[in-house]
Amino acid sequence: MPETVLVTGGAGYVGSHVVVELARGGYAPVVLDNFANSTPAVLPRLESLSGRPVPWVNADLRDLVAVRRVFHDHPIAAVVHCAGLKSIDESEERPLAYYDVNVGGALSLIEVMGEAGVATLVFTSSSAVYGQAAALPVSEETPPSPQNVYGRTKRVVEDFLRDLARANANWRIAILRCFNAAGAHTTGMLGEAPRGRPSGLLSLLARVAAGELSEIQVTGNDWPTPDGTGVRDYVHIQDVAQAHLQALKWLADAHGAITQNVGTGRAQSVYEIIAAFERACGRRIGQLTAARRAGDVAACVADTKRAYEALGWRATRGLDAVCADTWKWQKSGGRL
Ligand SMILES: NC(=O)c1ccc[n+]([C@@H]2O[C@H](COP(=O)([O-])OP(=O)(O)OC[C@H]3O[C@@H](n4cnc5c(N)ncnc54)[C@H](O)[C@@H]3O)[C@@H](O)[C@H]2O)c1
Repeated sequence: MPETVLVTGGAGYVGSHVVVELARGGYAPVVLDNFANSTPAVLPRLESLSGRPVPWVNADLRDLVAVRRVFHDHPIAAVVHCAGLKSIDESEERPLAYYDVNVGGALSLIEVMGEAGVATLVFTSSSAVYGQAAALPVSEETPPSPQNVYGRTKRVVEDFLRDLARANANWRIAILRCFNAAGAHTTGMLGEAPRGRPSGLLSLLARVAAGELSEIQVTGNDWPTPDGTGVRDYVHIQDVAQAHLQALKWLADAHGAITQNVGTGRAQSVYEIIAAFERACGRRIGQLTAARRAGDVAACVADTKRAYEALGWRATRGLDAVCADTWKWQKSGGRL
């Protein structure tokens, strides 16, 4: 019997790809999502790509009664916690919502896991916990210094999970600090499909290339970086999903809490990404220089050594695949 794994936020961008990788890796995923930023239309695609039924529950993570029912109804052995709010801009405007969902949601989940005796957890954290580090690339030893509300909610949850693992040796927790997830499933059947405007640079570029948006806003070209635009580490969404699968497998023989970067180690500026996407889609992308966004940093790139040494995971796809798959997803409609 495959082990049942609850994927919170399993209808979202990261979660949907995680569901497929888990199923292909021999697990039986169950989705919990309130569809705040996704749609149930993804579920048949998850089943088709997974080659197995994917039970799902429409529930809010903060609803203890509903979450308890999920653990009662399914033989859950582990949880991959992807549900959350992720917009830096919005987090600056709505701190209560971000603390409530990201921190409150994690607390509810852990409470119910504790009651149910389920102690294996993969948590999708973010490189936003680092803020602007003094030196790049950032390793897991780099002191966290988040520059925005979103990153601070992730740091609070990380600290809580490490405290939990210190207090009770039964917990097996992998904290994955994901860098900039980008691209789409290579089949063209899954991709970033938010309810509103996408937040990822690649998804925005695809919509500009398709004529759905008029131009891309380059938020700051006066950063202290080689070409003045923000530098990030863009990691293919299927590599991100595979890191979650590897982490879950790794936890079978581990105790305590480990923290891992999930990035490529490659530094790419906004201008470099725009140029790469123009090559992939064969079109010019209109650009507009805008002011820096509150809470943004100049550069953040992963040191990938520990993830490879500990989990045996490293990114296998590069920027060309990220651009090609994003464009394929856009050409198939770019929505669910
Ligand atoms: N996309 C990235 O580049 C990236 C990078 C680093 C970390 N992350 C983290 O990965 C996780 C998933 O991000 P994503 O890009 O897939 O975002 P997403 O918005 O596509 O997915 C999040 C999912 O969680 C669901 N959700 C939100 N609030 C909920 C609640 N209260 N109860 C139940 N479900 C709820 C949403 O409906 C959505 O389906 C987030 O925690 C995010 O912080 C994402």
